[in-house]
Amino acid sequence: MFEALKPLPQDPILQLMQTFREDPREHKIDLGIGVYKDDAGNTPIMAAVHQAERRLLESESTKSYVGPAGSPGFGRAMADLVMGEGSSLVRDGRVAVVQTPGGCGALRMAAEFLRLCRDNATVWVSTPTWGNHLPLLGGAGLNIREYPYLDPATLQVDFAAMLESLAQAEAGDVVLLHGCCHNPSGADLTFEQWQQVTDLVLKKGLLPFVDMAYQGLGDGLEADAAGLRHMAGRVPEMIVAASCSKNFGLYRERTGALMLMGATDSVTSAANSQLLSVIRSHYSMPPAHGAAIVETILGDEALRADWQLELAGMCDRILGLRRAFAEALAPAGDFGFIARQRGMFSFLGISPAQVRRLREEYGIYMLESSRVNVAGLNDRTLPVVAEAIRTIL
Ligand code: LMR
Repeated sequence: MFEALKPLPQDPILQLMQTFREDPREHKIDLGIGVYKDDAGNTPIMAAVHQAERRLLESESTKSYVGPAGSPGFGRAMADLVMGEGSSLVRDGRVAVVQTPGGCGALRMAAEFLRLCRDNATVWVSTPTWGNHLPLLGGAGLNIREYPYLDPATLQVDFAAMLESLAQAEAGDVVLLHGCCHNPSGADLTFEQWQQVTDLVLKKGLLPFVDMAYQGLGDGLEADAAGLRHMAGRVPEMIVAASCSKNFGLYRERTGALMLMGATDSVTSAANSQLLSVIRSHYSMPPAHGAAIVETILGDEALRADWQLELAGMCDRILGLRRAFAEALAPAGDFGFIARQRGMFSFLGISPAQVRRLREEYGIYMLESSRVNVAGLNDRTLPVVAEAIRTIL
């Protein structure tokens, strides 16, 4: 049976990660896959994570099954983190949370759930969006439509085009939004634009689906969730996929959460029972370790304060790198947008041939689209990368 299958190329982000690992050049620089790196070029385990792991090792008394929803304590902590401490939506039982294998698990289970709600569901995604959104959502059988988001000439949000396109959506269509730190562009909606999208969602009867993969790495934990929270407070239903990969640095532990918000507690509870059945038929139950770390940190005042401090430091460092990178590139053109954008990524706006030149001649890796992971730069590599870009331009 297998012999009929043709070999498939890897996902471009993962392929680039592998090519980088296999590159023997010592001076190579990785601005490809979205992982945070410190000034020494390492992706550290956060101090609070280390502490929490030590505590778990001491206190964990069983490895018995957790159940399809995962840990309820993790779910409550994530609801507070995303929706805000003391959120009335959570208090009123309108938000159900399940623990998922990473943000990807949350996205895919949401897509499977949406197929249950509506057999021919359509989800609108931004152009561009994270490459893996398309297989994650389309693979579950959702119809995918795109709304223009980034103006390729200015590398800023083309909000008028976005609204005009979403005005074509039909009642019951799903709109995928990036909660903050848009991947791949770094160009986020302003709070006023979130308000306008909320109005459109209400007027057209659309279902907002927010991918929150970088909370805390744009402008801070609270500011990054402001648009989402405004929307959640006004719409009857909403879906949120949250990831702990970046803000807890738990990438390989595959830790995420999926939240369903319904119009009433009983609607939410029924919807959640369907979701749990979807989960049972896919992976049965989520892995426990990463979520136990998050639950331990968020449930302990001192660990939480330590984590927040370290995360705020990472966020500040990215903002500083953005300003320094834009400045270093200034002689080659207007790269001021890099300083204005948020999160790990920005497009440089250079051609695939120039991207290839940077990789082959200088050992500098970025996606073919010219997406760079700004958080992969440091004091030593930033001038090297800026000089190489200035040269090829
Ligand atoms: C990225 O966009 O580089 C990250 O979200 C990692 C991934 O899995 O693609």
